[in-house]
Amino acid sequence: MPGNASALQSDLYIGLISGTSMDGLDMALVSVGPARFEVLGTRVVALDTDLRVSMLELCQSGQDELHRLAQADTRFAEFCGNAVLDAISGWGVDTRAVNAIGSHGQTVRHAPSAQPAYSVQLGNPSVLAERTGITTVADFRARDIAAGGEGAPLVPAFHASVFRDSATDRAVVNIGGMANVTLLPADFNAPVTGFDTGPGNVLMDLWCQAERGSPYDEDGAFARSGNLSHDLLPTLATEPFFRRQPPKSTGRELFNREWLRARAPAISELPPEDVANTLTELTATTIIEAILSSDLEDPEILVCGGGHRNAFLMERLAQLASPSTVASTTAKGIDADFVEACAFAWLAWRALSHEPGNLPAVTGATGPRILGGIYLA
Ligand SMILES: Nc1ncnc2c1ncn2[C@@H]1O[C@H](COP(=O)(O)OP(=O)(O)O)[C@@H](O)[C@H]1O
Ligand SMILES: [Mg+2]
Repeated sequence: MPGNASALQSDLYIGLISGTSMDGLDMALVSVGPARFEVLGTRVVALDTDLRVSMLELCQSGQDELHRLAQADTRFAEFCGNAVLDAISGWGVDTRAVNAIGSHGQTVRHAPSAQPAYSVQLGNPSVLAERTGITTVADFRARDIAAGGEGAPLVPAFHASVFRDSATDRAVVNIGGMANVTLLPADFNAPVTGFDTGPGNVLMDLWCQAERGSPYDEDGAFARSGNLSHDLLPTLATEPFFRRQPPKSTGRELFNREWLRARAPAISELPPEDVANTLTELTATTIIEAILSSDLEDPEILVCGGGHRNAFLMERLAQLASPSTVASTTAKGIDADFVEACAFAWLAWRALSHEPGNLPAVTGATGPRILGGIYLA
């Protein structure tokens, strides 16, 4: 890399992420500079079913997984490459005008507590750079982990850059498959912190798929039709992850079907809508308790990620948080469905600007680090 100036030929970046829900590839085209962040285009592309299934299977160990992982790594990158080329033409942008893609990839294993720690994302960046002809920044988590961090969450630095407000404490909550919070004190001298709170939509999705055959609980209607189980909620809440002090991050390795079965063996004896209601409450309470037990004073709570579309969940969050207010980040200028994709575009800009992307107070890394490997066009 000859130097910053030549690495930043344009201010256009594309962010890509498929989260733990594996519902689709989120894409954002942004214009970014030291004092500017503007979203110019967004798009979500549903994953091909066989690709989704093969990546979901890789979330657990199984036969021949090294071969399957290598194949899915390239297949997902091809998928991302095609999606980028399609989107770019839809947005009416010239490929050569895009300075870089920031590609999070698809996490299939996140093991920050393993010895040694690791986190695996699919989406071979060489393939992505080759297919698109665009410089690709990827593998964002590895450097933070190498520096002793969790490698997650990585969105808080971006949240701080676009949502921090000197007039009020704020908390940004990203409710994807997992949920994470970023705590943004109005006092700019106070540190920004953040961590995963536990399940976002993942348990609700699993339950809805098993009981209703639909991918998720549309608007939370299933959960709304049930009652809270006062036995099930405290049982699920005994999970030690909820009481662990940050830094902490989690994934499908912990919160999955087996977790639910092990924690609540008699779950099938309850009315299914009561379970849906209780799983929604678990997500809501763990998020709100994490925020309200922090040092923030009556923070304004901003929600992003697919969970913001679950009207019942949003109501529960608002009720539990009161008098703090709950709104989606869309109201603050960034479409709640694309905040994470924007974050990875921003992180690519940080990498090419030779600026750190992690917050050591969040991840536990020994220091700020420039994140990601750079695959030049
Ligand atoms: N209309 C809706 N009603 C309820 N939940 C929704 C709705 N739309 C999306 N979701 C939830 O959002 C999830 C996807 O959110 P997303 O932020 O993309 O998660 P991830 O980052 O894990 O991919 C879906 O799996 C679903 O649980
Ligand atoms: Mg998603």
